[in-house]
Amino acid sequence: METRIRQIDKNRIDENIIEEAAEILQNGGLVAFPTETVYGLGADALQEEAARKTYAAKGRPSDNPLIVHIADYEDLRKIAVNIPAETDMLAAHFWPGPLTMIFEKSPAVPYGTTGGLDTVAVRMPVDPVAAALIRAAGGFVSAPSANTSGRPSPTTAEHVAEDLNGKIDMILDGGPVDIGLESTILDMTVSPPMILRPGAITAEMFEEVIGPVDVDQTLLSADSVQAPKAPGMKYRHYAPKARLFIVEGDLREEILAIRQLSYAAHRKGKEVGIIATAETLPFYNHGIVKSTGSRENEKTIAKGLYGVLREFDEENVDTIYSESFAAQGIGKAIMNRLEKAAGHQTIPAADIVRRQKYRRILFVSSTDSARGPVAAELLRNRNLKQEYVIGSAGMVVLFPEPANQKAEAIMKSAGMSLEGHSSRQFDREDIQEDSLVLAVDGTIKEKLISEYGQINNLYTLNEFAEDDTEIPDPYGQPLPAYGECFEVLKKLVQKLADRLDSLAEGEI
Ligand code: TXA
Ligand code: MG
Repeated sequence: METRIRQIDKNRIDENIIEEAAEILQNGGLVAFPTETVYGLGADALQEEAARKTYAAKGRPSDNPLIVHIADYEDLRKIAVNIPAETDMLAAHFWPGPLTMIFEKSPAVPYGTTGGLDTVAVRMPVDPVAAALIRAAGGFVSAPSANTSGRPSPTTAEHVAEDLNGKIDMILDGGPVDIGLESTILDMTVSPPMILRPGAITAEMFEEVIGPVDVDQTLLSADSVQAPKAPGMKYRHYAPKARLFIVEGDLREEILAIRQLSYAAHRKGKEVGIIATAETLPFYNHGIVKSTGSRENEKTIAKGLYGVLREFDEENVDTIYSESFAAQGIGKAIMNRLEKAAGHQTIPAADIVRRQKYRRILFVSSTDSARGPVAAELLRNRNLKQEYVIGSAGMVVLFPEPANQKAEAIMKSAGMSLEGHSSRQFDREDIQEDSLVLAVDGTIKEKLISEYGQINNLYTLNEFAEDDTEIPDPYGQPLPAYGECFEVLKKLVQKLADRLDSLAEGEI
């Protein structure tokens, strides 16, 4: 079948396109359309045969009921009965919007639409294209998310086309959706009402309107043996091609843990995927890193999540690590979808972070122009088991200067370079819990102690490398003195590297 794709501007709706789409629906066909949550795959909710087509196009089990979308509140009474009193208040606050409510169904709704249930899920979307289409099609449009079963819900018309092109009659392309996660589902057939699927409308928001609501307990735990109350929630909705792990801890720990994990994989010649945010993106040096949105506004993360998961399915990665998100507000819905995609596999960030003692290594010399920068560069050239930020600083650096030219000449002859080095003064900020400070000789170490007091993790390089060879100071001497110094540093840095790698024994 040829799928017609029609662009439609939600601010200037072209009635002809809506008419064309509505006619398809009335004739029992399928039209994908934008809603504020995700794209829906529309069919006439009152035609049993149309529901069957919907299941076939999505490849979805037919015991998974569809949501009936309406455009006018009065229409609710035509498809639902025994509507509880709080419904008016909830509708006044949240309809049209990203809320689906479940009621006892009226005889007008075929069992094909409700997956054989005596209840019906109803939603009134706010998207103007959706509302216009629903009205033009007769008022009742069933619509699951417009993805192939087992794929992330579509947040753009392109996503819909990826999954359903050739299988449905039309796609209305109204641009990217606003929210990006499916609606909150609230079961109104129980008292108090119960959240069956978290979404943009949160428990706290309901509470302000109708008092406390319940939450389906199967949503909260990974190992619940009970079936969730929304049949669709029992399916491992979407399983990414790669194994997905959620790294959990405070954000700093999560970043450090993911850095360690991605470095370890990189060292083995593999790149992992990383689900990050605009703020954390710059911290990752390895792996394929994608940002879902900004932590300043969690709504952007909700909006970007499914697109990023789809993108990773196109990448050649077999493992994805995701940062975790605040479990409040829309964060709850984000974590719910992420946990489902991960099959609830989480990694405690602290366990990973604990495995690396030092993250920064700083070589301290007097002017930071020869011995320090040479040692730092030698260490950077080692393929270490763990990743370190390696640098150097000096005790007396009045202004930044490039490396000593003789030191540079020796480095060049060894196939390395100090190009780009700029000397800098040691600073109190350099003393951190995870910094290993290595003085090039005993005098520098003593100076550091006399200026800054006791410093944890301060050693001379030869002390830490467990080799008592002294590092000569070639300053002011001819080239061969720099050569000799280089040879000593090379030997000590090799021992240092071995020592660091042995500390990394419990590596990942
Ligand atoms: O935001 C949304 O809700 C989107 C847009 C298109 O409106 N639709 C959507 O539909 O997410 P779908 O089919 O992908 O998810 C509907 C969920 C399923 O988990 C289904 O089991 C549940 O709603 N559901 C539908 N009718 C139900 C009922 N009568 N009782 C319990 N759960 C029901
Ligand atoms: Mg769905």
